Amino acid sequence: MEIVSNYFEYKIYSSLEELSVEDKELMLIAEEQLQHAYAPYSKFHVGAATRLNDKSVYIGSNQENASYPLCMCGERVALYNAAANKPNIPVDSLAITIKNQNMAINKPVSPCGACRQVISEYEFRHKQPIRLLLKSDSPEVYELRSVADILPLGFNGTFL
Ligand code: THU
Repeated sequence: MEIVSNYFEYKIYSSLEELSVEDKELMLIAEEQLQHAYAPYSKFHVGAATRLNDKSVYIGSNQENASYPLCMCGERVALYNAAANKPNIPVDSLAITIKNQNMAINKPVSPCGACRQVISEYEFRHKQPIRLLLKSDSPEVYELRSVADILPLGFNGTFL
């Protein structure tokens, strides 16, 4: 028997001002998307923006439905938007921010399990890690190197 330990590191920036110009811009674009979220049921708005290797940026926000399982997360809207427009350009980074209309959330929220799997697919597709930038109401920003760090032992196309 063997015990395997797995830990990961991430960066915490105290505010947007500590980010690179490009990353700050990406997060500001994600914040703009909060107003485009369609979240009449949960009142939980998610704004996302993804930057590709060619520097282009694609946006997304969560889109809900009265048939709840059909709700689509903001992260996936952004990634599918990018993939539909620029299928062959690898994804460099994904900025995600949230606004809960019912209460302040004072630490960054990380993507749900389904979105982790989808982000992982684009890492696998393009053989490149995707940096994640996470923010909420509080000023700090978390930067994760790759979704693989928050989806250990993930499932991917190598098994198929
Ligand atoms: N949501 C996202 O957009 N991303 C996540 O990672 C978690 C949840 C959305 C789905 C739904 O519209 C609302 O947030 C509440 O779950």
